[in-house]
Amino acid sequence: MRVCIMTGAGSGIGRAVAIQLAEQKLYDHIAILGRNLEALNEVCKKMQPMVQTSVWDIDLNSPQKIPQIVEQIHEKCGSIDCLLNIAGYTDPQPLLTTSLENMEMTYNVNVFAPFLLIRETVKYMKKTGGKILNVASTAGMTPRPGWLSYSSSKAAVISMSQTLTEELSEYGIKVYCVSPGRCATKLRQKLAPNEDPTTIMQPEEVAEVICNLISDRENCLDGQNIVIRKQIKPKG
Ligand SMILES: NC(=O)c1ccc[n+]([C@@H]2O[C@H](COP(=O)([O-])OP(=O)(O)OC[C@H]3O[C@@H](n4cnc5c(N)ncnc54)[C@H](OP(=O)(O)O)[C@@H]3O)[C@@H](O)[C@H]2O)c1
Repeated sequence: MRVCIMTGAGSGIGRAVAIQLAEQKLYDHIAILGRNLEALNEVCKKMQPMVQTSVWDIDLNSPQKIPQIVEQIHEKCGSIDCLLNIAGYTDPQPLLTTSLENMEMTYNVNVFAPFLLIRETVKYMKKTGGKILNVASTAGMTPRPGWLSYSSSKAAVISMSQTLTEELSEYGIKVYCVSPGRCATKLRQKLAPNEDPTTIMQPEEVAEVICNLISDRENCLDGQNIVIRKQIKPKG
């Protein structure tokens, strides 16, 4: 059985990835980690005719439960072939109003939870090889004044991914990092509340790139930070 663990499946880019993964039958079982059980069960219903799913209740702001959950997933499914770190959090603030709590929450969800998920899944994946994909952001590549916690956390995701690409290659584990530009989701609305979501990239478009990368069709591309961006013609 081919097994994929993912976060962020309840909305936006993660939801679109979950549905495309199921439609393309890239994995036999998708284990979904998150806290919004209503949204996660709703997406599972859409996926279940095509693949097996399971939902694992965790608030990634308290990532300590991750080792236990990964162990249980492995016990239930027998292997772990893919990990998709898609969940993300932001509370954009300029320096002087950025609290330690803001930094901690952003780093817990965006950096520490992915780190723990990678460490724990690699314990199993190193025997078989596999794929890991982390969602960073173009905000982690160039300065975004006013988004200190988010931008710096995404820069950490890019660096962590590149470091691990080298470190894990000996196990046949490929590590991808994607940095989407502006995409119409809840998180983007927090960052740019006045933007018209119909004028930017849609979650399904980002999901398509992610599903291509983690499919067996892709074999030559890890190690670089892959920017996902679409030129959209202005209206009128
Ligand atoms: N949209 C963009 O323009 C853009 C650009 C570059 C990168 N990204 C990245 O893309 C990824 C997906 O975000 P999105 O744009 O699709 O936004 P989204 O719809 O808001 O999705 C974010 C996901 O993260 C989950 N999450 C947040 N905090 C969590 C927590 N404490 N515990 C468990 N799950 C948590 C959310 O679940 P809940 O429902 O529980 O909150 C939600 O499913 C993120 O990593 C984001 O940084 C987005």
